[in-house]
Parts: sequence; structure tokens; C-alpha cells
Amino acid sequence: MKILALFFIFTSCGNYTETKGVLEDTFSRNLNTPIDFKTINEAIIQPHCLSCHQQYATYAGVKNEASNILNAVTSNRMPKNASPLSAAKKELLAAWVAAGAPQGGSTTTPPPANDKLEATWVSLSSKVFYPKCLVCHNPQGQAKFLDLSTRQAFFEQRNRDFGGETLLNFEHPDESYLITVITDPDEPMPPVWSNLELLKTEEIEVIIEWIEKGLP
Ligand code: HEC
Ligand code: HEC
Repeated sequence: MKILALFFIFTSCGNYTETKGVLEDTFSRNLNTPIDFKTINEAIIQPHCLSCHQQYATYAGVKNEASNILNAVTSNRMPKNASPLSAAKKELLAAWVAAGAPQGGSTTTPPPANDKLEATWVSLSSKVFYPKCLVCHNPQGQAKFLDLSTRQAFFEQRNRDFGGETLLNFEHPDESYLITVITDPDEPMPPVWSNLELLKTEEIEVIIEWIEKGLP
């Protein structure tokens, strides 16, 4: 209803023609088309949540937790360590959840064809390190003692010693301390408390291959 009010405020002042298009878009979209997942994803999930919550990468993942998500956002518990979402975004989310968190029409974007994880920095950083490590292991993060944000950083720390084990073991890549930590049965990385999904076997294999090839 706020949008409606705004519409009349604008129509009553001189800027009518300039703002008309934008407002009418918002206006008609809000009244006629139900909010779809694409809108929620682009406005809220991707920019504010995905860096920490891999489980929200799919519609199903978000829908399953829709009411918890709304609760966490309206109570300002989330996004963690960031400013609360704007009132407009909270309202948008509330309206979507109230409507049953629909997926909507044009939202099933098929994964890009070259979605395969490759043993290169470009591929690994965007598909594994960025979503699963970087939130903590960046130069400002809570685990900044081990920066994993650039290929250079990996390279510079390759021989770093952790109680007798090297971070990256080029002779026996699968014995690298990095791999030990990722696969630790008791305290794996990413930490259990982060809610991030652990690495899949195939992802670990690609990291090993990447070390073997000398971090291309
Ligand atoms: C910087 C990392 C980070 C970001 C960004 C983040 N979260 Fe979280 N989230 C966490 C962590 C860590 C927990 C585990 C509980 C805690 O530490 O508060 C959590 C817990 C949750 C929970 C379950 C516990 C609760 O408080 O309800 C929900 C739901 C949630 N997050 C939703 C979201 C949503 C929605 C966003 C985006 C608007 C978001 N989070 C952004 C890190 C994050
Ligand atoms: C939510 C924050 C967080 C995420 C995500 C995270 N880490 Fe960590 N990591 C830490 C913290 C905090 C420490 C230091 C305390 C500890 O060892 O538990 C640490 C320590 C480490 C260590 C050193 C362990 C040691 O023995 O000192 C390695 C290696 C590591 N992380 C790798 C990774 C990798 C690889 C990923 C992603 C696959 C990752 N971490 C994801 C927070 C995180």
C-alpha cells in the first residue's frame, strides 16, 4: 500500500512524466504479478545471504526455510555482521512468504553449460573457496591469519607449517594439511557452526588435482 501512496504523491507533483514509467512498473508488478523467487533471490538472498548460506543457492533450499528466513531477517539477527535489511526488502520478503513462497514462472534458470568444476584457480575460487571459505578466510575476516582470497595468497603460504605438516604438499597433494583440515571428521572446514555445506568428495579431488598441477 505504501507504493500506492507514493504513486499519488508523485502524480501530484510536477515530475509525473519522468517517474511515471518506473512507478507504473512497480505498481502493476506488485498488484498483478505475485512476487516470484527470482525477485527475492536477486533483491535479498544473493546479495545478503548467499556468501554464508550455501543452502540458499536453490529455490528449494530457500523455500524449505522460508519462515525461519523471514524470522531471522525481521528480528535483525540476519544478515549476520551486516546492517539489517531495509524496510522495503523486509516487506517484500514478508509478502512472498505470506503468499506461500512461490517459485513463479521464469525462475528455473538451467545451470550454465560449462558448470563443471575444473582444477584451476578461476573455477575453484568461484565455486568452492569463495562460497565456502572466504567469508572467514579473507584479509579482514575472522580467520584472516590464513588468507585464501587470492591465488597469490595460496602460493605464498604453500609451505606454511602446521605442526609438521605443510599447507600444500606438492609431492603428495592428498597429504596436504589443507586437505586434512577439509576432511577432518571432528572439526572440518568450513566449521560445522557456520551452517555451510562441507565440501563434496569430487570438490576435494579437484583441489588435490589443482595442487598436483602446481596451482594453475
Ligand atoms: C556473514 C555470514 C552470514 C550472512 C551474510 C548471513 N548469515 Fe545467516 N547465519 C550465519 C551463521 C554463522 C549462523 C549460525 C547462527 C549464528 O551464529 O547466529 C546463521 C544462522 C541463520 C539462520 C538460523 C538461525 C536464526 O537466527 O534464525 C537463518 C534462518 C539465517 N541464518 C538466515 C540468513 C538470511 C536470510 C541471511 C540473508 C538475509 C543470512 N542468514 C545472512 C551467518 C550468516
Ligand atoms: C565460518 C568461518 C570459516 C569458514 C567458512 C572456513 N574457516 Fe577455516 N578457519 C576458521 C577459523 C576461525 C579457524 C581457526 C580456528 C580453528 O582452527 O578452528 C580456521 C582455520 C583453518 C585452517 C588452519 C587450521 C589449523 O590447524 O590451524 C585451515 C587450513 C582452514 N581453516 C581452511 C579452511 C578452508 C579450506 C575453508 C573452506 C573450505 C575454510 N577454512 C572455511 C574459520 C572458517
